[in-house]
Amino acid sequence: MNSQPKLHILFTSEEIEAKVKTLAGEIRRDYQDKHPLLIGVLKGSFMFMADLIRLLDFPLEVEFIRLSSYGSGRESSGKVRVVQGLRSLIKGRDILVIEDIVDTGRTTGFLLDYLRKKMPASVKLCALTDKPSRRQTPVTIDYLGFTLPNKFIVGYGLDWDEKFRYLPDIRVIEEEG
Ligand code: IMP
Ligand code: MG
Repeated sequence: MNSQPKLHILFTSEEIEAKVKTLAGEIRRDYQDKHPLLIGVLKGSFMFMADLIRLLDFPLEVEFIRLSSYGSGRESSGKVRVVQGLRSLIKGRDILVIEDIVDTGRTTGFLLDYLRKKMPASVKLCALTDKPSRRQTPVTIDYLGFTLPNKFIVGYGLDWDEKFRYLPDIRVIEEEG
């Protein structure tokens, strides 16, 4: 076995649950009559999306998109592309993008531009977490869960090289050395 990195809990599952409830309340207030299309960005948003949608008791539709920003490890490169696209019509719809994290903002910035070109009625962004100190591309987050320090987090859908997505809480990887 490789040595495991040290993790410590940043947000417990109870804190996440409370935050998701708050976000769901804001989204319900703004979208309950709009029949919005919620677009989850794979893979990281799957757990957040599932918990959030369960709390939205009004008509909506669900989509997923998968993006890749060439390169691996902890840093996203500038070049983003669509790996798995949308099947739903975007034109004229009220779109709410569901993200796990906005880090440099390159991935989300690319996606919002991509969607706006398809002439939706509106596009807004809901992000569970935000690392503003890392921003390279400006992104407006309309519904934000947690603001993060400049640390790498895992759990609740977020991975480190595909590991730790299953954790029910959000943890920080402690830097070594
Ligand atoms: P961007 O830098 O905003 O384009 O973020 C691109 C992607 O990097 C996110 O969608 C995540 O998949 C990943 N990412 C950035 N920061 C973290 C982190 O702290 N933990 C896990 N994944 C991260
Ligand atoms: Mg990732």
